[in-house]
Amino acid sequence: MDKLFNRKKIILVIGGGISAYKSLDLIRLLKKQGCQIKVILTESGKKFVTPLSVASLCQNKVYENIFDSTREAEMDHISLSRWCDIILFAPATANSISKLASGRADDLASTVILASNKQVILAPAMNVRMWIHKSTQNNFNKLLDYGYVFVGPTTGEMACGEYGEGKMSSPEEIYEFIKNYFLNRDIVKDKNLKALVTAGPTKEYIDPVRFITNNSSGKQGYEIANSLAKSGIETTLISGPSKLKKPQNVNFIKVETAKQMYMETKKALPVDIAICAAAVTDFKPEKYEIYKIKKNDLNINFKRNPDILEFLSKNNSQRPKLVVGFAAETNNILKFAKEKKIKKHCDWIIVNDVSNPEIGFDSEYNAVTIIDDKNIEKISKNSKTNIANKIVRKIVNNFIQ
Ligand SMILES: Cc1cc2nc3c(=O)[nH]c(=O)nc-3n(C[C@H](O)[C@H](O)[C@H](O)COP(=O)(O)O)c2cc1C
Repeated sequence: MDKLFNRKKIILVIGGGISAYKSLDLIRLLKKQGCQIKVILTESGKKFVTPLSVASLCQNKVYENIFDSTREAEMDHISLSRWCDIILFAPATANSISKLASGRADDLASTVILASNKQVILAPAMNVRMWIHKSTQNNFNKLLDYGYVFVGPTTGEMACGEYGEGKMSSPEEIYEFIKNYFLNRDIVKDKNLKALVTAGPTKEYIDPVRFITNNSSGKQGYEIANSLAKSGIETTLISGPSKLKKPQNVNFIKVETAKQMYMETKKALPVDIAICAAAVTDFKPEKYEIYKIKKNDLNINFKRNPDILEFLSKNNSQRPKLVVGFAAETNNILKFAKEKKIKKHCDWIIVNDVSNPEIGFDSEYNAVTIIDDKNIEKISKNSKTNIANKIVRKIVNNFIQ
């Protein structure tokens, strides 16, 4: 049983989507940690999981109907939201997301949520076209504005056979997310921690049309910034060119070159935690040519870019209490990572094997090893979201011990 979860009260709303069955697993995970759970099933939710199986797992009455004459005196639509610590909607359907965005309250689930004074966490699940539809994206942005938070959706193969973004996060991911939320609420907030994350590639121009860069997507760094912010840590994300959306509740700074990233990093100090997840281009052309170089004039010399990780680790007056570097290696992974940790004077190195096309740079998945002064901890292949949550859990533990 986890102390953080013990006696926490959760309202779980299950909507009408294929992934409703995953919420049964989630109930089991949360119950095992000592949570009390009350479930609201939408009318469509009942087509996917039965009230009987839900009631057996959560060992509580299942709420289905707003007009329940046997419970008239209780006013469930108000009392349920007052009873709980959080409301979790999983799977949150396109229909329910749309209803919440427009403030409709035409069933028990939407009425409880509208009447709630608690944090509402949504785990969307739908076909990729439904998720990327402009109306769903508008609703999503509206709900972010209203203070709802989202876990997922993730990208992958869907029940319908199509591939893309829209899959519900796994029960483990949702569990980790909620755990981070409680950690934040109960402990981290008191500490007023500040973090800085660098992410993405940098772009070093040779002339007005050419540049050198790498194919880092920025995804792992963005997920770490997201997870830090959700844990209640004031987070600045300094990102090189990336197509990703800005995470919620972070101070977001976009840069192009390594020098700009270095300057913005300096400006963001002091912080308690610095995570250098950016794939900074190590070299840049010695000279930038203001006119496009002609084909036959190819003679480029390179010079080193500023080393942001080393700067943070050695900057004594404003050195963050925890400096974490990333190493992307293709061979001798652990050996090179340990050498980098010593050379850069950082506290942890997180290394990933970028030679494996299934994980790393432009993939949704990663597998990493965290090397600190005492331990080597492996996190096996997992979504970048889950990896980020695990890294952030380790960071938070480091500060609350
Ligand atoms: C087999 C089947 C699977 C469905 N899966 C989803 C889904 O994953 N996500 C979604 O948003 N809607 C899905 N729908 C549509 C919803 O069930 C429908 O929009 C319903 O009105 C949602 O109601 P609710 O939001 O009150 O739960 C599915 C429908 C069917 C018939």
